[in-house]
Amino acid sequence: MRLPQSCERALFERFLKAEAMILQTIRAALKKGVPPPDVVAFLRRHEEEEARHLRQFEDLLEMTSIRKNTLPRVANQWCVLAVQIYGYESLGLEYAKLLVHTRPDFSAIAEDEETHVAFFENQVRKILSEGGPQTTEARKAAQALRRRLPETVDRYLEAESFAPFREDLKRMILNSIDRRFAAVGLTAP
Ligand SMILES: [Fe+2]
Repeated sequence: MRLPQSCERALFERFLKAEAMILQTIRAALKKGVPPPDVVAFLRRHEEEEARHLRQFEDLLEMTSIRKNTLPRVANQWCVLAVQIYGYESLGLEYAKLLVHTRPDFSAIAEDEETHVAFFENQVRKILSEGGPQTTEARKAAQALRRRLPETVDRYLEAESFAPFREDLKRMILNSIDRRFAAVGLTAP
């Protein structure tokens, strides 16, 4: 879906907030030592990439993202946290695609987000393939996230400039994440 230029500022602003949220979640997870050792190197790179996106957007929008000094509380179990980050990265990617349709010069951002989503998708696949309590916890986390998702998407689309497209965009984003979650085996198809 191609949005008019009037939506550009809102797309950038919300993407900035989403990136800031993911960045803080990653930082909190690393500080708390939740991710397994083989994941930490990727998360450090990921942290740098999201921080770079943030700086780029802050310069462009001439605003700072709302960053509290305190890090958010994150889940203690990687099987839960991986699903949560996967969900937010998937939402971020859908949003990045809309942004890139409006501003093709920002295509590198959508490519970075594709990489992030693919990484967490693999993590989720790995968790699900192991079976046992971790798999159950991961599926529960996905259900909880899915229940909150319509509200989250509403927040992503609350800008006035989205009004004429809001319902279509919401349906498109939710469908896309539903398909993704079902394909990976987190939810029933
Ligand atoms: Fe990302």
